[in-house]
Amino acid sequence: MSNRALVIGASGGIGAALCAHLSERGSTVTRLSRAADGFDITDPSRVRAAMDGLEGPFDTVLIASGILAPEGKRPEKALSEIDAASMARVLAVNAIGPALVLRHLPQLLPTKDRSVVGVLTARVGSIGDNRLGGWYSYRAAKAAANQIVHTASIEIARKRKNAVVVALHPGTVQTPFTEDYPTHRKVSADEAASNIVSVLDQLTPEDSGGFFDWEGKPVPW
Ligand SMILES: NC(=O)c1ccc[n+]([C@@H]2O[C@H](COP(=O)([O-])OP(=O)(O)OC[C@H]3O[C@@H](n4cnc5c(N)ncnc54)[C@H](OP(=O)(O)O)[C@@H]3O)[C@@H](O)[C@H]2O)c1
Repeated sequence: MSNRALVIGASGGIGAALCAHLSERGSTVTRLSRAADGFDITDPSRVRAAMDGLEGPFDTVLIASGILAPEGKRPEKALSEIDAASMARVLAVNAIGPALVLRHLPQLLPTKDRSVVGVLTARVGSIGDNRLGGWYSYRAAKAAANQIVHTASIEIARKRKNAVVVALHPGTVQTPFTEDYPTHRKVSADEAASNIVSVLDQLTPEDSGGFFDWEGKPVPW
């Protein structure tokens, strides 16, 4: 990798750790977040203005924003808990948001050199791996994000043959995102960031469009 990175969702647990990790290994990191920059990923005009204001090319781009459920809500455990407004919000942040970023991203990627674009989705967005049920909105939003990433990878490859555009499962990570799940075994955000960057380092353009976990293993769709 060369040395210019863009991290969206830089205020989050994993996003901040990714910024620190990339910076430590010599990348110049551009950070975008709602908390620091008012970058609301669900707002098309804000996304466009922020992306148009950046100067590329970036060889590494990570989208690390996301919600499990709207503020004050929990993910559904049963069909009876489905709420249209909550579901729309989860889809807006986790699926439409990354799509809006990808819409403006090609112009910021190098045309010839290798670049990597990693969108943090989640293993629970895998339909093939879903044995537990529940979490309707989050699962559906991450599955939609996976499809958007895969589709974008096909289009981006037409003009940028060395671009690697992938969906990534970061593992179960100790961040505000998982604080309601104290019994789950979690890794630190630092460890997750290091894992993600190692996976990105190993991927080739032939891997573009794929869905990989923190060990670099493909995750079923
Ligand atoms: N933690 C895990 O175990 C785990 C597992 C699988 C997948 N993931 C995925 O990894 C990603 C990062 O998770 P995390 O653990 O780092 O979560 P986190 O600490 O809760 O951070 C979430 C990030 O999303 C941003 N965000 C939320 N709504 C937004 C909006 N409307 N516009 C822009 N940014 C928004 C937050 O920004 P502000 O704080 O600036 O508002 C924050 O930067 C998410 O996509 C999550 O689904 C996490």
